[in-house]
Amino acid sequence: MTNMSKPVLEVKHLHQYFEKGTPNENHALKDINLTLNQGDFVAIIGGNGAGKSTLLNSVAGSLPVNHGQVKIDGQDVTYQSVNKRAKLISRVFQDPKQGTATLLTVEENLSLALKRGSWRNFWSRGVKHNERQMFRDKLASLGLGLEDRLSAEIGLLSGGQRQAVTLLMATILQPSLLLLDEHTAALDPQTSATVMELTDKIVQEQHLTTLMITHNMADALKYGNRLVMLDHGRIVVDIQGDEKAGLTVPDLLELFKQQSGTELTDDAVLLS
Ligand SMILES: Nc1ncnc2c1ncn2[C@@H]1O[C@H](COP(=O)(O)OP(=O)(O)O)[C@@H](O)[C@H]1O
Ligand SMILES: [Mg+2]
Repeated sequence: MTNMSKPVLEVKHLHQYFEKGTPNENHALKDINLTLNQGDFVAIIGGNGAGKSTLLNSVAGSLPVNHGQVKIDGQDVTYQSVNKRAKLISRVFQDPKQGTATLLTVEENLSLALKRGSWRNFWSRGVKHNERQMFRDKLASLGLGLEDRLSAEIGLLSGGQRQAVTLLMATILQPSLLLLDEHTAALDPQTSATVMELTDKIVQEQHLTTLMITHNMADALKYGNRLVMLDHGRIVVDIQGDEKAGLTVPDLLELFKQQSGTELTDDAVLLS
């Protein structure tokens, strides 16, 4: 493990503004500095509007950077298009429908992911026998019985099953960086817990460098080696190791109160 401390993601002095220069100017990210080393699994929490999605969008390239720098695997990608940096990044969204093609079957979706979403390669090659076997093995490892549903249209699966397949698709070609944007928030609590367990298994097995936004404080404490709290566009807490391991949900809520001067009132946060 010589590359354990190799930086995979480097965000330097990142600022993002919405409606800059207008009376509605919103300084959504203020001098964000964040480095993730190989294998770091970071949970990001924060109140509504704290800037969590803006940070992920800046890293993924779906939002142009106003000021600062984003590097992945040492490459400056600050001004690279979403498609170009998609070779390095996989992303899973809240909506299970967003990561999959509804009318394609489970195996066709996985095959498409194996071709990095290139429809041209997909149509010209179809699903090969050896790929089908690999998909079956990977689906079986999820423990959801999906290995028997290779030829089912993905639109027929439940939200949790679909999100599990989306996770496989996002990680079937080892990405340098995995971005999870509240990827369990649309699921019922039990399904959310199952998908979180699968996420952790995949991240650990592949030693993936991962940035995960979550509303769920308990998940933020349970999973990952590091926890980052955003408040009004700033990183106000960045803890790992023993410091993180000793925290409880009430500690975290108290920390939030100290840092932001307000209480987290979002029901989803308090109930989780
Ligand atoms: N496309 C946009 N246009 C204008 N303002 C935006 C846009 N996206 C986000 N914002 C604003 O930026 C701030 C941070 O939003 P966001 O990153 O979505 O927060 P979070 O994901 O933590 O809830 C909020 O004040 C939000 O209203
Ligand atoms: Mg958000």
